[in-house]
Amino acid sequence: MTRTLIENGTVITATDTFAADVLVDGEKVAALLAPGTFDGEVDQRLDASGKYVVPGGIDVHTHMELPFGGTHASDTFETGTRAAAWGGTTSIVDFAVQSQGESAMAGLEEWMAKAEGNSAIDYGFHLILSDVNEQTLKEMDTAVDNGVTTFKMFMAYPGVFYSNDGQILRAMQKAGENGSMIQMHAENGIAIDVLVEQALARGETDPIHHGRTRPSIMEGEATHRAIKLAELAGAPLYIVHLTAAEALAEVTMARDEGANVFAETCPQYLFFGMNELGNGFEGAKFVCSPPLRDEAEYHQEILWTGLATGDLQIVSTDHCPFCMDPYDGLPAQKRLGEGDFSKIPNGMPGVENRMELIYHGAVTEERLSLNRWVEVCSTTPARMFGMYPRKGTISPGADADIVIFDPDTPHVISAETHHMRVDYSAYEGMELAGSVDTVLSRGRVIISDGDYHGSAGDGQYVERGFNELLI
Ligand code: URP
Ligand code: ZN
Ligand code: ZN
Repeated sequence: MTRTLIENGTVITATDTFAADVLVDGEKVAALLAPGTFDGEVDQRLDASGKYVVPGGIDVHTHMELPFGGTHASDTFETGTRAAAWGGTTSIVDFAVQSQGESAMAGLEEWMAKAEGNSAIDYGFHLILSDVNEQTLKEMDTAVDNGVTTFKMFMAYPGVFYSNDGQILRAMQKAGENGSMIQMHAENGIAIDVLVEQALARGETDPIHHGRTRPSIMEGEATHRAIKLAELAGAPLYIVHLTAAEALAEVTMARDEGANVFAETCPQYLFFGMNELGNGFEGAKFVCSPPLRDEAEYHQEILWTGLATGDLQIVSTDHCPFCMDPYDGLPAQKRLGEGDFSKIPNGMPGVENRMELIYHGAVTEERLSLNRWVEVCSTTPARMFGMYPRKGTISPGADADIVIFDPDTPHVISAETHHMRVDYSAYEGMELAGSVDTVLSRGRVIISDGDYHGSAGDGQYVERGFNELLI
């Protein structure tokens, strides 16, 4: 078993900032020591002078190989998790998919097989429910017994992933019984489909119309409805990829009333607005759902405030990449929607960039503290998704998933240098203030000196427990 001493760094957890040397023994953190006091033997020493030593990032919203719109997300578990590691993320929770007419457990087994032997970092699963019936409800218990304690449902995408209010209520009632949690894609898909049909009939086919036909009030409406259904069912609720001021107001109101309602947002909604969807078909690179929001309505700053107040608890990526042009054996995926914005595969890349982007937007730009950065990117994801204290902190007994982060070496993002299997970066040319220097995954150095030292299959499946932040 390798023993490693990370010395001379500043340890940052969700609650504390202190100078300490971190002793790693095998896969675990063994001790945090006053700097310079360790006098035992180690196999390697990592110098973290002038750097932060933080818990590895946990991205609880990724879609490796997701089938969507006649194609599939371009990152495999092998390529996507390796890219995550480069960016300081040491665990993901990906979405297994129940296809309509199929069993939910069959979907979970399919995704387990995709990840096993391929993932570079530890991984867990949520399960997308697309077909809620008596069997599915029973399978929710089986999934929980297998460490899958969260289920995503869609109020959007009629005919694909969509569930009606009755199906949602039944699944929420089951979650209320077995301790699991429903994650909601909250957009009124039935109303949105009317707007999409009308726009196309008017000849409005460019990507900008993706944004215009999915108005923020329809996210607010769906968020309100999901909260009320969860209240009726007596179940907790987690809103995924929240983008809109109207939706955040609903979450805030529910939380002020003491409800177990939680929400995440994603970097794209903090850094970009609807203008990115302009510029002809180039805007396809920014097509995701819910869409990027109108800059004039200040959604972006309102989301940052939500992270500061705690009404938003997590930043995940919703990593769901599709190539613009033929790349690495993949077809021009986004171009499936040339001439019809509704056929552009929905999703954006980002799993590699989250830790550095949020450090930059939060800490460098003085919106959140260093500790809050760690909390929204690692500690709360671990606590809310049943992986804490094994993951999400640096303390004796925890998995040694550790990032040495250099706050003084900038990183310029580019598709030329990133590791995700996608031919563009939404953040192309953006200079971020700090960068990931070294990454340990369960005690093994997998990124250092600008090289990747891990291999496909290093990652292990994480059986998750329940949300420990319920009130
Ligand atoms: O546009 C997105 N968000 N694509 C991924 C699927 C989803 O709804 O999360
Ligand atoms: Zn979604
Ligand atoms: Zn998603």
